[in-house]
Amino acid sequence: MDLHILDHRLRVTSISKNGLVNFTHPLIKLLFLRNRTRCKFFSLTETPENYTVVLDEEGFKELQPSEHLQVESSTWLPLNVVSNGNASSSSQAVGVTKIAKSVIAPLAQQHVSVFMLSTYQTDYILVREKDMSVVISTLEEEFSIYKEVGGESVPVHSQDVFNGLQKNAIQPTVHPVLIPQNQFCVMSLDPDTLPSIATTLIDVLFYSSRFPADLLFTSSSGELWRMVRIGGHPLGFDECGIVAQISQPLADSDISAYYISTFSFDHALVPEEDIVSVTDMLQHQRKDPAT
Ligand code: ARG
Repeated sequence: MDLHILDHRLRVTSISKNGLVNFTHPLIKLLFLRNRTRCKFFSLTETPENYTVVLDEEGFKELQPSEHLQVESSTWLPLNVVSNGNASSSSQAVGVTKIAKSVIAPLAQQHVSVFMLSTYQTDYILVREKDMSVVISTLEEEFSIYKEVGGESVPVHSQDVFNGLQKNAIQPTVHPVLIPQNQFCVMSLDPDTLPSIATTLIDVLFYSSRFPADLLFTSSSGELWRMVRIGGHPLGFDECGIVAQISQPLADSDISAYYISTFSFDHALVPEEDIVSVTDMLQHQRKDPAT
């Protein structure tokens, strides 16, 4: 398995619900007029509390400082796992479940805080730039690690500056979870079709219209997902092991999951048919965090 350190330096920001009007211009540019900016990585997540925008430094320049914009102070780098064919695993599970044991758990053990962004295609694991040497030395046993530099993949090895495995003696906080009734659809679309649905997306995003049910996108299997929101109060960015706590038991039961961190909370999407067993699992974990 290969692990790629992508060539993007990312900022994690949030726009308050009623501050969105101040950002329509840059957001439309970043979302729909892609050739007008040099931004190469852009992610927008709407939640009831705010909008989370994760974007590279080029894109970040488009956002004017404002009382409605909160910015996490670190630079984050996205990693992703590329399986090189020899899929020895018998698991059919998708998403964060596939990387729970190989990436998420080892990083949590080394106290590395991550920020997860699952997409239809891939799962981005964001780590702070300053944690990179720990990340590399932790994961190089399991992975061949490459750094993308101007479109080329260059192998990287640990500088041996990081010495030693930290032992994780701390009992992680078990955060409360919330399981709303909504059903979710996970889809992808060909960027070339973006202009044809742009007005619909503008409507949904800026005028709180509902997402039209009849919009057909590619590769939606018709499968529905349910959400588990993790955190009773905002999780912050320094705590580690939250993703691990959720993805471990899912991996043990081979349940697929997308995992989306936002500025305030974390969100796991699990197949609708598994929500009951996932709820039981997490409830059990709350009562008895040691198991
Ligand atoms: N840092 C957490 C972890 O390592 C995940 C992110 C939680 N914070 C947030 N703002 N969503 O597990």
